[in-house]
Amino acid sequence: MKVTVSRKAHFNAAHRLYRKDWTDTENEAVFGKCANPHYHGHNYELIVHVKGSIDPQTGYVMDMKLLKDLIKVEVEDRMDHKNLNEEVHEFIDLIPTAENMAVVIYNLLKPHLNKEHELSVTLYETPRNYVTFQG
Ligand code: NI
Repeated sequence: MKVTVSRKAHFNAAHRLYRKDWTDTENEAVFGKCANPHYHGHNYELIVHVKGSIDPQTGYVMDMKLLKDLIKVEVEDRMDHKNLNEEVHEFIDLIPTAENMAVVIYNLLKPHLNKEHELSVTLYETPRNYVTFQG
């Protein structure tokens, strides 16, 4: 029997979606407002899902305090109030779309979970646009 536990988190960050090898016009045609050379911010909502068996001793799939602290250290401390393109090294050569961010966040969290835990990351870039990565 597997149960999914989830933790919500929040961070603000700035980004710019563009390719260095494209002109500003080409970038704007593909990425629209998100190509703004002066950057812009989003209020990101993150939901981290961990699926696993209930530990018969504790009744927990995992200790939510540990999950909370893990998200803080691995995601919030790295990304909150940062310029993703300039300050988060994963995005120096990777466009910080919500898709790529979900994969980066997954890869930051996964090594810290038990091997038998299944991880899924949902990232809201706006209240209506969100992406999910399950590994
Ligand atoms: Ni944007």
